[in-house]
Amino acid sequence: MAESAEIILDGKSYSFPVIEGTEHEKAIDIAKLRDQTGYITIDSGYKNTGATKSAITFLDGEEGILRYRGYPIEQLAEQSSFLEVAYLLIYGTLPTQAELDEFSNQITKHTLVHEDVRKIFDGFPSAAHPMAILSSLICALTAFYPESVSPDLSKENIDLNVIRLMAKLPTIAAWTYKNNMGHPLNYPRNDLDYAANFLYMMFSFPTEKYEINPVVVRAINKLLILHADHEQNCSTSTVRLVGSANASLYGSVSAGINALWGPLHGGANQEVVEMLEAIQRDGGDTSKFIAKAKDKNDPFRLMGFGHRVYKNFDPRAKIIKKAADEVLTALGISDPLLKIAQELEQAALTDPYFVERKLYPNVDFYSGIIYKAIGIPTEMFTVMFALGRLPGWIAQWKEMRENKEPIGRPRQVYTGELDRDYTPIEQR
Ligand code: MLT
Repeated sequence: MAESAEIILDGKSYSFPVIEGTEHEKAIDIAKLRDQTGYITIDSGYKNTGATKSAITFLDGEEGILRYRGYPIEQLAEQSSFLEVAYLLIYGTLPTQAELDEFSNQITKHTLVHEDVRKIFDGFPSAAHPMAILSSLICALTAFYPESVSPDLSKENIDLNVIRLMAKLPTIAAWTYKNNMGHPLNYPRNDLDYAANFLYMMFSFPTEKYEINPVVVRAINKLLILHADHEQNCSTSTVRLVGSANASLYGSVSAGINALWGPLHGGANQEVVEMLEAIQRDGGDTSKFIAKAKDKNDPFRLMGFGHRVYKNFDPRAKIIKKAADEVLTALGISDPLLKIAQELEQAALTDPYFVERKLYPNVDFYSGIIYKAIGIPTEMFTVMFALGRLPGWIAQWKEMRENKEPIGRPRQVYTGELDRDYTPIEQR
């Protein structure tokens, strides 16, 4: 007998089907709730509401499990590359060598952006935040590839837009940095792989050859892999909602970039380093700031701790912390911020105040320290998050389209004024 949920409203009993996922998560299917009862549900922030069924990413917040298409994030971070993981997320299977070579070669072929994009760049003030430029230029790709707006895209056309987006985001991201610094833009090099090419475009100078460090390339791959998808987070839900209106992939991802920019979402990694730098400027006494974080009358809060879905630890943070140690050691960098971070982490993992509130380091806590060690400025941290999250956004947008999901249009409970007549301005 299939499981169902019984709801009793106004003395009448209603039954709704229960669905169960492959990992035995269960949900009450309320698709017919309003038609049958006149009631809707309400769940601010959707903390208990599933927006879709998805086969892309599974996470278990209680057990600290994160898998992309069934593969544990720990194995992918150690053994895979970002482009291989991107292929896995977007197409659902690990590629053969031939498939990966074709995917990588296609991306390499499309890394250039139209020269008219540079004219748009020139219109931004040099102090513009890179995320503002990134979301604008990704949406602008719709102007350069107008066929991408069609809701009846062929598989070939969707695949071409996927390749273009995967190829051009690193170029545009590196250009936002160069534009910010007032430096000459670097054009992509077809002889370099994805991460090395990005580093080259970011840090090469006409007057100074940038030596690509394999430790840094490995770290970038690992960081991008760890950020590649995270089921229905805020920015991914934004991409799916915008895409559900048959908006183009570029327009949907541009909306996701703006959601990710929010300091409560992808902007948190920038907030973490700014917090560590503030503690350092104040003399580095972490116990003072731990006391401030515990004082409910003090506005100071620890950034990079706790998570909406992970209840005990963020599996990504464990991997990134190890990578931070490796990168700083390999580069011979002794960053005082890392010491401050480790002291804060130690407090969060031992002090009952933080343990009871499940405030442990999340994915944003250590990523900024690695980016900083590589030479990536704080304002570019969320751009790095977007670079990593791109294949996840693409995969989720594609899944939503392939499953022909309806346009997203949530309901509400109205709490405003009751019916009343208009009054002419002279009578107000
Ligand atoms: C993410 O990876 O998107 C963040 O951890 C936020 C989330 O999943 O809600």
